[in-house]
Amino acid sequence: MKLKTKILITCVAYIVIPMILLLGAFFGIARYVGGITPQLRFEFDEMTSDLLIDLLFAVLLILLLTSLLITRWVHASIYKPVSQLNEAMQKIREGDFSYILETNKTGEFGDLYRNYEDMRMRLKETAEEKTRQEDKNRELITNISHDLKTPITAIKGYAEGILDGVAATPEKTEKYVRTIYNKASDMDKLINELTTYSKVQNDRIPYKFMRINVADYFADCIEEIGLELEQKGIEFTYTNTVPAYTQIIADPEQFKKVINNIISNSIKYMDKPQGRIDIQIIDDNDQILIDIADNGRGIPQADLSKVFERFFRTDASRNSAQGGSGIGLSIVKKIVEDHGGYIWASSKEGISTTMHIAFRKYMEL
Ligand SMILES: Nc1ncnc2c1ncn2[C@@H]1O[C@H](COP(=O)(O)OP(=O)(O)OP(=O)(O)O)[C@@H](O)[C@H]1O
Ligand SMILES: [Mg+2]
Repeated sequence: MKLKTKILITCVAYIVIPMILLLGAFFGIARYVGGITPQLRFEFDEMTSDLLIDLLFAVLLILLLTSLLITRWVHASIYKPVSQLNEAMQKIREGDFSYILETNKTGEFGDLYRNYEDMRMRLKETAEEKTRQEDKNRELITNISHDLKTPITAIKGYAEGILDGVAATPEKTEKYVRTIYNKASDMDKLINELTTYSKVQNDRIPYKFMRINVADYFADCIEEIGLELEQKGIEFTYTNTVPAYTQIIADPEQFKKVINNIISNSIKYMDKPQGRIDIQIIDDNDQILIDIADNGRGIPQADLSKVFERFFRTDASRNSAQGGSGIGLSIVKKIVEDHGGYIWASSKEGISTTMHIAFRKYMEL
């Protein structure tokens, strides 16, 4: 039964039931009086028939007025809020989160309105986040297609060169094959990065944590990095001030990704003729600080914290020829935080950028 019908029945019953009771009581009294003596009954009838009609009208009027007031009150305080809530829920079901229910009511309906508003705001935020995410994913797919197209075009070109006999000498053929190999490696790296990214997003990085000696670990890392930087003509320094026995708990493979991503950014965003990268491992009480500084183009102050967000690239990077999806540092941040560490960036725009990582030392109990 609808709420409106129920309210109507209640109000009609509010008039009819007292009327029936009143009439019943009246006739009951008349019968009782009639039972005593016929004379008394005659006098009673005479006296009461007019009075009865007046009384009935008066009671009916009072009941009608009261009923009207009650109906109005019930309509305003129960029916209206319920139907408003119903309409609001309908909108939510249709995916429209703009229907605001504001109230200064107290009591159950006040709570219900406020709970509805809470729920609506949360659903709205989730829906907006989902749309943002979908937009970013679409953007990422466009970027990836773009990044993958470059090596594929090169591979096709060089393969055609070999097939058409343009690479006539063995040296030329070797150069062409080497280029194809390098381009395929670029693609492989891009795809690997994406796979890692999807794993990072779903919290599925398979960490293998272990105790690592800081000095030994970085000495190995630096050897690899140093070779690559030397080939690229970038000056490189490494200083380590932590005591020789210092250890941290980390996944060596994943941590290498952190260092490599930061270094690859330093290389990618280098705009000086003589590039320079300085790595420092600093002892800081119960933690170690890893500072990786470059003399590249720097990051605007306003973007310093944003560079760790997924898909974020500074305007300068977006407008530059260097490709990138803006996911490298989001992966770095996730890995560092999964290790219980912190990462932040400082920069002087146009002059330098430093990535700082703080890592707790392993303490023997
Ligand atoms: N060393 C740096 N110097 C100047 N800008 C930097 C440096 N490191 C990061 N950035 C800025 O931060 C942005 C985000 O870096 P991130 O590594 O997340 O993405 P990306 O390098 O653009 O793309 P990807 O790493 O996914 O290929 C970069 O686009 C760049 O604008
Ligand atoms: Mg990067």
